[in-house]
This record gives sequence, C-alpha cells and structure tokens, in this order.
Amino acid sequence: MEKLRYGLIGAGSNAEKKHIAGYRGLPHVELAAVCDVNPAAAQALADKYDIPAVYTNYREMLEREKLDVVSVCTPNFLHAEISIYALSQGVNVHCEKPLAVNEAEAREILAARQRSGKQLMVGLNNRFTNEAVLVKQYIDAGLLGDIYEAKAGWIRRSGIPGRGTWFTNRALSGGGVMIDLGVHYLDLVLYLMGMPEPAYIAGNTRQTFTNTDSRNRNGYKGNPAGVFDVEDSAVGFLKLANGASVSFEFSWASNIEQDRAYYELIGTKGGVKFENGKLSLFTEQFDTCIDMQPKLNPNVKRLNEFEHFTGCILTGRQPLAPAEHGVYFMSIVDAFYRSAAENRAVTFQPNLVGAR
Ligand SMILES: NC(=O)c1ccc[n+]([C@@H]2O[C@H](COP(=O)([O-])OP(=O)(O)OC[C@H]3O[C@@H](n4cnc5c(N)ncnc54)[C@H](O)[C@@H]3O)[C@@H](O)[C@H]2O)c1
Repeated sequence: MEKLRYGLIGAGSNAEKKHIAGYRGLPHVELAAVCDVNPAAAQALADKYDIPAVYTNYREMLEREKLDVVSVCTPNFLHAEISIYALSQGVNVHCEKPLAVNEAEAREILAARQRSGKQLMVGLNNRFTNEAVLVKQYIDAGLLGDIYEAKAGWIRRSGIPGRGTWFTNRALSGGGVMIDLGVHYLDLVLYLMGMPEPAYIAGNTRQTFTNTDSRNRNGYKGNPAGVFDVEDSAVGFLKLANGASVSFEFSWASNIEQDRAYYELIGTKGGVKFENGKLSLFTEQFDTCIDMQPKLNPNVKRLNEFEHFTGCILTGRQPLAPAEHGVYFMSIVDAFYRSAAENRAVTFQPNLVGAR
C-alpha cells in the first residue's frame, strides 16, 4: 500500500507533542514536509524527526509536495484560511481545536470541505480517551437513561498559557479560556449527549490576572509587551431544548485549592463522573445505590486519533469530530460571548444538519 504523504503546518509545542508523536507511529504514513513561519522551528522538527522538506510558506508547501493530509497547528485565527486553502488543493485536513474563531468562519471551512470531497477532522483529543470511549458506550447502550443534567469544568490555579502571547490576544485566538479549555470539556459533554439542540445560554466572563506573570502556566513564558484582551475565566449555563441543562466553569487562573478538569453526566438510570483522570459510574440496582470504578488500562488504546483519521481518509468513513461538530460548537461559543457582553441570556438555534 502506498503511504499517505503527511505535512505539518505550525511547528509549535502542540504539533510536536501531539501530531508528530501521533503520525510518526503509523506505518501507512510518511512524514513528508513541515512548515512554520519561524524557519528555526520548522527546521528543528525536521532534524529531530527526519522530515525531508522544510517550508516557511504553507501555500508553497501544498503546491509542491503533493500531500494527502496536513495538520493545522497554528494560532487559531489561521485555522480557517489554511484549512480552506488545503482543502482547495485536494488535501485532507486535521485541524486543531477550535475549528475556527467563530461560527461564520467554521461554516466557510465546512463549505470548503463539501466542495473538496476531502475529509476534515477537528483535533478534539478528549473524545478519544479510553474513558470517553467507555462513557459513550455506556450512554449508547442506554445505561444512563435520559441525561437531564451535565457539568463540565477545567479550572486552573496558575495556568495562563503565556500572558501576552497569541493565546491572550483576541485577534489571534478568537477568545480566552472558553475557546482554549472550554472547547475541550464543554464539547466533550455535548458530544457525549449526542450534540443536543440548545435553547438558550447565559454566560459570564472575567479578566482578573492580566497584569501579572505569576499566574502563567508552568513552563509557559509571557510577553510583557503583548496584548491581554480576552477572559481568563468563563462560567455559564446552557439550557437545552429537551429540558436538560449543562453548567460549566473554565479558568486559566483562579484562587482555588487545586486544578480540576472534570465532567459529570446525570441521567434517569445512572450517572458518570470524570475528574482529574478518574472515572466513576453510579447507578441503582435492587433498591441499592451502586458505585463502580472501571479499571482502564492506559497502555491499551481503544481509539487512536491518528489511526482513526487516516482510516477515515482511506475508507471515506465520517470522522468522529467532523467540521459539522465544529460549526455547532462555535455557534455555542458565539452565543456565550454575546450573552456575556450583553448581560443577558441569549436564545439561539444552531443548524444541526450533519451534526448528529
Ligand atoms: N488539542 C490540544 O490538546 C491542544 C493543546 C495545545 C494547543 N492546541 C491548539 O494547537 C494550536 C497551536 O497551539 P500551540 O500551543 O502549539 O501554539 P504555538 O504558539 O506553540 O505554535 C504555533 C506555531 O504556529 C506557527 N505559525 C504561525 N503562523 C504561521 C503560518 N502562517 N504558517 C505556519 N506556521 C505558523 C508559529 O510560528 C508557531 O511555531 C492552537 O490552535 C491550539 O488551540 C491544542
């Protein structure tokens, strides 16, 4: 079998830790080219992982290299421009989360994918964990019954991904912690609930830690001359059309005892709780409340994001996180920010076609 020719766009920290680590392990993938506007960053990855071609211009790379698939790992504001161009060149796209900086851009990406007949998957890695796969099986088997309440949160004590970097500059990121961490865990509960139809959202955002480097994430450097015009905390309440509700809280920095990343799904027959890597299941049997603690083996990967996506490219199967899900999620993010800015609950109806 011929190998899929793979190219990386944006050779930053996530690209190496996640995408190169994931694709280089696949026997049917050839790491063909890497591109970054910073030539040293692209060259460093090329040297370390034996990637033969290095570019500073992604269009040139796409025109010359006859690639089958690219990862888009640049700052968020470039996701739409690059994904649309790659699709127009007949190249499949694995785009990092968030799919885009707002719903309008996400729709343009979806339209480009539809025109191209190629595949696009959003890099929502939390959908691929062993825990998420098990919870999805539980839900699909009806073991939770009707889910009527969900909670999602990722709150850090000191976790700003570099004050003054592109992450804290709205023009480059599209938003703050909601678009950075909220995209992972709010997306996850909505995915597990089957992409339900929203009714309204009430959101609140704050900027508290904009003037100090003391709350940067460990290992992340700030830029004192940079912009910080996004929220570092985001809380909200999403009412669903079926009467269920989802409450959420995300923060890059807050005065809490310890960091927590969690979600809870509460249904008529059972519940699940995932917190800081630990999954618990709750139900009732023979008039008795029962707690269950699955023993998941982290060495056995139930679902591999990279194998999955290349499999979708080779078979034409729909990926687990298609562009339609990105459009759905960005409509929620847009409504959340509108609610926070206008100080009121916002009613909205995303287009659910293809999202379910
Ligand atoms: N899925 C996850 O868990 C996860 C984790 C971290 C980051 N991310 C996402 O990955 C993306 C990158 O984040 P990061 O932390 O690696 O950022 P980063 O700043 O470390 O890397 C971004 C890289 O893109 C390069 N770049 C900028 N403009 C470019 C262009 N026009 N062409 C090519 N390269 C360009 C920069 O020079 C930089 O090397 C973001 O969208 C972020 O949201 C996802």
